[in-house]
Amino acid sequence: MFQYVTVFALFVCGINSQIIRQGKCPDVPAQQNFNLMSFGGYWYEAERSPVRFEDGSVCNLHDFVRLSKVEYADYIHLRRNGDILMASGIATFSGKPDEAKFTFNITLDTDNVPRQFPLFILETDYGSYASLWSCSQIDPNTYEEFSIILTHSRYYHEDTLNKARNVYDRNNISRKEFEKVEQFNC
Ligand SMILES: *[C@@H]1O[C@H](CO)[C@@H](O)[C@H](O)[C@H]1NC(C)=O
Ligand SMILES: *[C@@H]1O[C@H](CO)[C@@H](O)[C@H](O)[C@H]1NC(C)=O
Repeated sequence: MFQYVTVFALFVCGINSQIIRQGKCPDVPAQQNFNLMSFGGYWYEAERSPVRFEDGSVCNLHDFVRLSKVEYADYIHLRRNGDILMASGIATFSGKPDEAKFTFNITLDTDNVPRQFPLFILETDYGSYASLWSCSQIDPNTYEEFSIILTHSRYYHEDTLNKARNVYDRNNISRKEFEKVEQFNC
């Protein structure tokens, strides 16, 4: 399920780049009454904390395609060192069917081992922003997380970004490590 157009090793060299924190994954609600139909199409990364399989990339875009009532495909396009990379994964509802909590399954061609991690759409208005978050318990006292703010158009208004940022603040998820994702000259 993982495709690419250049050397995939670029993807995995940032394997330890996610944020590690002490304690338990916080219990954070995701978007209720989530409408998978309305979420499709192109979404662009505006800001994110370090994400393992996207380390150092720019122009990141996600093409969400609904596959069924309970799953969607995420075709990821990004650039790294001038190379265009493509990857895809499948997200399946993991909780209540109308709450936007998914398990994301992605297989890297380097080792061909499918990896699963939680992926929550904490909030989206479907038209302009989506606040994504993932948290995985590594051991009883340690967890790792990453966050991605998506905007539906590549060029967004600051207000849009602030709405998306507020979602993390409300849920006490730190934005200290967030970085802007370059979307110019793509
Ligand atoms: C994840 O994807 C791989 C490759 O498509 C598949 O073989 C595997 O069964 C999937 N795992 C889960 C838990 O869905
Ligand atoms: C966030 O932290 C504040 C202050 O510690 C607390 O009052 C609030 O309940 C927390 N909110 C959530 C959603 O955890």
